Amino acid sequence: MISERFTAKRCSGYNYPMGKIILVSNRLATSVKVREGEPTFSPSVGGLATGLSSLHAQEDSLWVGWSGVAEDDITPELSRRIAASLRSEHKSVSVPLTHADLDQFYYGFCNNIIWPLFHYFPTYVEYDNTLWESYVAVNKRFFEQVAELIEPEDYVWIHDYQLMLLPDLVKDAFPDVKIGFFLHIPFPSYELFRLLPWRHEILTGLLGADLIGFHTYDYARHFLSSVRRITGFEHNMAKIMREHRLIKVDVFPMGIDYEKYSTAPDRPEVQDGIKRMRSELEGQRLILSVDRLDYSKGILQRLRAFQRFLETQRDYHEKVSMVMIVAPSRTEVPQYIELKRVIDELVGEINGTYGTISWTPIVYFYRAFPFEELTALYYLAEILLVTPIRDGMNLIAKEYIAANTQKRGVVILSETAGAARELGEALIVNSSNIDEIADSILIALELPL
Ligand code: G6P
Repeated sequence: MISERFTAKRCSGYNYPMGKIILVSNRLATSVKVREGEPTFSPSVGGLATGLSSLHAQEDSLWVGWSGVAEDDITPELSRRIAASLRSEHKSVSVPLTHADLDQFYYGFCNNIIWPLFHYFPTYVEYDNTLWESYVAVNKRFFEQVAELIEPEDYVWIHDYQLMLLPDLVKDAFPDVKIGFFLHIPFPSYELFRLLPWRHEILTGLLGADLIGFHTYDYARHFLSSVRRITGFEHNMAKIMREHRLIKVDVFPMGIDYEKYSTAPDRPEVQDGIKRMRSELEGQRLILSVDRLDYSKGILQRLRAFQRFLETQRDYHEKVSMVMIVAPSRTEVPQYIELKRVIDELVGEINGTYGTISWTPIVYFYRAFPFEELTALYYLAEILLVTPIRDGMNLIAKEYIAANTQKRGVVILSETAGAARELGEALIVNSSNIDEIADSILIALELPL
């Protein structure tokens, strides 16, 4: 039915210009919060949203995704108002998700099964068929929303692990539409991927796309190996033959809006921030750490490494501070709640042991920072510590390099972040090797300009 409508439009004799891009991801680039009945709109946290929002602003694109509020928390009238603002001010179309969807699809399947498995934490995973059913149902709901918007010549560009069934749903109904899929997280090795009871369905869903992109060659290689072993479809030169279709797999290491970050320190509001922070830091040398709160980010290992550095490098006491920004994330998943507790304790322990009246070794924030303050910190920090246990890419490392225009900064980066494949000049470390990270902090502080 949908396909007929589409073919009718395509054949109706009009010359359509190249169509729009329909970007689809679970979370929109703009997140909505409701306070006392009034919606507020702010940029979403995470690499996907920050990485793609500049592109979205410049292109003829529509972004389809969840707004960040549970549909059953708001009245139908407020829901309509939010949808209207998203459409007119943010070129976005919201897909409503209820508390039940959030429990089962978002927290359950996406963030308690796929996220830990794909980040090599298989022991965190609880395989549960009702969560899978919810994943299937929500992917269909996204499909229905996308189907409403597709016009001839449009491109559908689907993002990330929450929507791995969507490419095939779209291809089935709109065989002529060009579909891209990009995975923002690692694709694990076959030995891990095979643990998924729904591995066949997930690969079939992904293979609805015409082009499947990954951040690194390793993720693409793992994917091709799983496709061949699980579905039997052969590949040659990174092209998969699926019945009568050819599907291309390629590597597209995601970048940032370089202009936006490299010109940020020239903006008056950022300069004000730089001046203010410089005087507040009173000559301290600054180490920066910025993450969403997530066990894949290696935050505890990083804290232990800084603790080891303080233990062994007493000359640097009162001369170096670490500003640690941890943005709240997935606050209902048990592992995240526990991690928050342990981070709080460890920060307290380190500050309690080494701090003085005039010096707090770790300046800790449990909240997201606005662009102006973040880029002021990027400019000032001499070291950026990025030590995830696994990370699809890590755009923070790239943002820091762009915004640190005084060119004094050093990135300490773990080898298991996708960004390590590109940023070979960083000090590359093993995120579980506390001594190596502590040593790298010293090396970075003592490197000549
Ligand atoms: C990562 C994922 C994104 C996700 C983001 C924030 O970057 O790749 O898909 O949107 O984290 O996580 P959240 O669960 O808050 O959407």
